[in-house]
Amino acid sequence: MENHLNQNKILLTGASGFIGGHIVEHLLRQGFAVRCLVRRQVQLPAPPNTQDLLETAVGDITEPSSLTEALSGVHTVVHLVGIIRETPRATFQRIHVEGTGNLLAAATRAGVKRFFYMSGLGARPKARSRYHQTKWEAEELVRASGLQYVIFRPSVVFGPGDGFVSMLVDLVTRGPIIPIVGNGRTPMQPVWIGDLVQAVEKTLTSPELWNQTWEIGGPNQLSFEEMIDTVAEVLGIRKPKLHIPIPVMRPAALMLQFLTPNPPITLDQLIMLQEPNICDPQTLPEKFGIDPVGFRDGLLRYLRQD
Ligand SMILES: NC(=O)c1ccc[n+]([C@@H]2O[C@H](COP(=O)([O-])OP(=O)(O)OC[C@H]3O[C@@H](n4cnc5c(N)ncnc54)[C@H](OP(=O)(O)O)[C@@H]3O)[C@@H](O)[C@H]2O)c1
Repeated sequence: MENHLNQNKILLTGASGFIGGHIVEHLLRQGFAVRCLVRRQVQLPAPPNTQDLLETAVGDITEPSSLTEALSGVHTVVHLVGIIRETPRATFQRIHVEGTGNLLAAATRAGVKRFFYMSGLGARPKARSRYHQTKWEAEELVRASGLQYVIFRPSVVFGPGDGFVSMLVDLVTRGPIIPIVGNGRTPMQPVWIGDLVQAVEKTLTSPELWNQTWEIGGPNQLSFEEMIDTVAEVLGIRKPKLHIPIPVMRPAALMLQFLTPNPPITLDQLIMLQEPNICDPQTLPEKFGIDPVGFRDGLLRYLRQD
């Protein structure tokens, strides 16, 4: 596919992840040339007739020397890499802060013009969770880099391949009761993946959106329990619910974190689940021209198989 957008090559990190996969597919369909940084050589899927717009470069954001070649000839970096759980080798500090710093340094050396960073809603100084604290520190590096930048802070993102609704589906379908964390009243503002992807594309073509930090949420502010109820309703499941008090969950999460490599919930996630995760619902319509999909409508698009 020939397109003028080919000249503005993008290096995208996190292409093999949930959000990255959707963004790459969309950008290719729109005619953008995208080079994806991948840790292992893989054949990334490309829509029909877009294969020549897609390149891969093997590299790891924690290994600065692996980034130089990947950034050669790149105009814009779209940096999506992030983790929600730590491992001994991949800590929040190492991935969010040091990894973003490595990428910024390599991008500056390579003459990159613009840097898009995917942070998370709730990133702020002195945040209680390490996830939010290190996202904030990474944001500060981006803002101080001297490059043109855009930072997105989405609330929880949902759509085919996500981790969040999959977790809700698990809770709803697995046992005889549906467990609810704490009082279940903490509000969130789920964003449909298709809307987030469109907002990224809009940013890439709209200079007026740059050098700003955007909080991105969907049209509905829903409590954790309301989201569980919506998932259950869409799946046609009726079961009793059981609220598990936070003081009971905390020691259990702590213990599981040490005992299993993949615990159902970590202490950091427990902290985040107690903090409201909401923002101005008018940003997507007013600033990005997007009429966002509601939570229930989004679920109906991919959860119901009828
Ligand atoms: N999902 C949400 O609801 C949500 C909400 C707000 C913000 N965010 C942010 O959005 C971003 C993308 O989220 P996601 O849900 O798509 O995450 P994801 O599915 O877990 O994908 C993470 C991606 O990062 C890559 N990666 C991890 N460590 C890396 C490293 N050292 N070097 C290079 N690549 C590395 C992974 O590659 P491998 O395949 O090699 O592991 C994968 O492609 C993250 O920064 C996240 O914090 C997500």
